Amino acid sequence: MKIRIWDLPLRLFHWLLVLAVMGSFVTVKLGGNAMIWHARLGYFVLALLLFRIVWGFWGSRYAKFSQFVKGPRAILEYLKSGHETPGHSPLGALSVLALIGLFLAQSLAGLFASDDIAFDGPLVKYVSSSWVEWLTSLHRWNEWVLLGLVAIHVAAIIYYKRWKGIDLIRPMINGHKEFSESQSKQILDAPDHQFLRFKAMAIFIAIAVILYYFLR
Ligand code: HEM
Ligand code: HEM
Repeated sequence: MKIRIWDLPLRLFHWLLVLAVMGSFVTVKLGGNAMIWHARLGYFVLALLLFRIVWGFWGSRYAKFSQFVKGPRAILEYLKSGHETPGHSPLGALSVLALIGLFLAQSLAGLFASDDIAFDGPLVKYVSSSWVEWLTSLHRWNEWVLLGLVAIHVAAIIYYKRWKGIDLIRPMINGHKEFSESQSKQILDAPDHQFLRFKAMAIFIAIAVILYYFLR
């Protein structure tokens, strides 16, 4: 039986994040004038991540942090039993938090980064040169941490599909997960109605306006 797990705003958040992150890697490697787009895509990543944090409190059932962030005991139990969970698993939650936290750190550090030639982040002028140097090197070495994290993320999804026979990608596209008749009796679906989508849009616009005000 199909049960709705991911609301539309969360799915849009995920795939827009993937596109924006890919774009920011491509533009920074092109350099020169493309750095303007590196910064713009970085602001977009920042807005998406801030939205996701708010959505972790105000979003639908399985988007809420309280629903999937669990302590070490629940993680160990999950590792032992391997029971399928409707939303993120207690172990997957760790990678979700790491992805959100480290990409947030990357986009924030970028605001204070400078290439020492022609391009400065918008907040460089407010801090001392030693801070700029430190945050620029953080921004640079975090690249490898992020690439490693994304590689683990994608490898885990392939592992679920190949070895456990669980497709996680399709639900992230259409919102629905497939459960057996008996499992589905105990699983609640996530609301995904027009008002929820309108609320998500209002939150995203508010975040974008605030960022524009501080970063223009
Ligand atoms: C999640 C978003 C971001 C990602 C994934 C990212 C990624 C990167 C990477 C990988 C580099 C190093 C390139 C290299 O040395 O080959 C870099 C450099 C840089 N980024 Fe970002 N960036 C992001 C956001 C931002 C933002 C928001 C800004 C500022 C508006 C920014 C400004 C810079 C600058 C000025 C450099 C050059 C630093 C240097 O020359 O060492 N980045 N970025
Ligand atoms: C730049 C690359 C990527 C980043 C930064 C990223 C980030 C994230 C984040 C933050 C989540 C948690 C969703 C939430 O609750 O907010 C997530 C989940 C997910 N991502 Fe990605 N992702 C990336 C690439 C990919 C790719 C390439 C795929 C497809 C192969 C993918 C498939 C998924 C799936 C299926 C989930 C749901 C996992 C689950 O059911 O627990 N991601 N991703």
